[in-house]
Amino acid sequence: MKHADIEALVKKMNVDTAKGAVDQRVQEVVVRLLTDLFKAIEDLNLSQAEVWKGLEYLTDSGKANEMGLLAAGLGLEHFLDLRADEADEKAGLTGGTPRTIEGPLYVAGAPETVGFARMDDGSESDTVDTLFVEGSVRDTEGNIIEGAKVEIWHANSLGNYSFFDKTQSEFNLRRTICTDADGNYVAQTTMPVGYGCPPEGTTQALLNKLGRHGNRPSHIHYFISSPGYRKLTTQFNIEGDKYLWDDFAFATRDGLVATAVDVTDSAEIEKRGLQKPFKHIQFDVVLVKETDSAPTTEIERRRA
Ligand code: BEZ
Ligand code: FE
Repeated sequence: MKHADIEALVKKMNVDTAKGAVDQRVQEVVVRLLTDLFKAIEDLNLSQAEVWKGLEYLTDSGKANEMGLLAAGLGLEHFLDLRADEADEKAGLTGGTPRTIEGPLYVAGAPETVGFARMDDGSESDTVDTLFVEGSVRDTEGNIIEGAKVEIWHANSLGNYSFFDKTQSEFNLRRTICTDADGNYVAQTTMPVGYGCPPEGTTQALLNKLGRHGNRPSHIHYFISSPGYRKLTTQFNIEGDKYLWDDFAFATRDGLVATAVDVTDSAEIEKRGLQKPFKHIQFDVVLVKETDSAPTTEIERRRA
């Protein structure tokens, strides 16, 4: 079918905007997506079976609750970050810590403390390196921000996240730390290992057909927010991981690579109340002032 005929056909399916409670935005989006889909079916000469296969795939992905995973793996979530960066640039917003994807594994309601939190439940402390992550939260002029909410979450040594992995205790490796009077936060936790897509899942099945792996490098996620500032969604990825620049979710970015330094000095070990060497990561954050001139960074999406 000619593209012009497809456009006419989709228009015919359009609802009369004058009638009733039409959502014009939804209508505009659906018409555009349908037009592009019909043209792709035509150009790629998809068989009917292939079209149904595609619909069945989306159904299965939804049933398995893997749509968020799929969006990350196909680069859609990273693409949204790049668009947000472009909007920031247009609005002249510079100097903040780079954003990167949230991913599908945030859980709201983690325990909240001021200044310091121990994030792990101790179940891995004999076998896994202890990690101290600390840093400051400042504005673009270098002023400290006291009371900024630093939400941190990460995987255990098997690459699994509490809540989604029911073998872990509630909110294990998930905490909210409010910065202290000096604008600093300290988290005591365990070294994470990079996430891998469920091998038998729908996302991995598609990645296999694309000749791609489904692995992420070791990383730690952040939401940082404070009244009057733009909420920052970010994460650092840890130097030395083989997937650092080969992340299936495309989240590693310049400015978001952290080095885990080995601390072996006995005075330092004692100061931290530990009995063995530990790892240390410094991650300082810069927040940008809130503005109406760029889209909000408070992203509404369904979360656990
Ligand atoms: C993660 O950060 O762990 C993640 C991100 C995207 C997809 C799946 C997991
Ligand atoms: Fe993650």
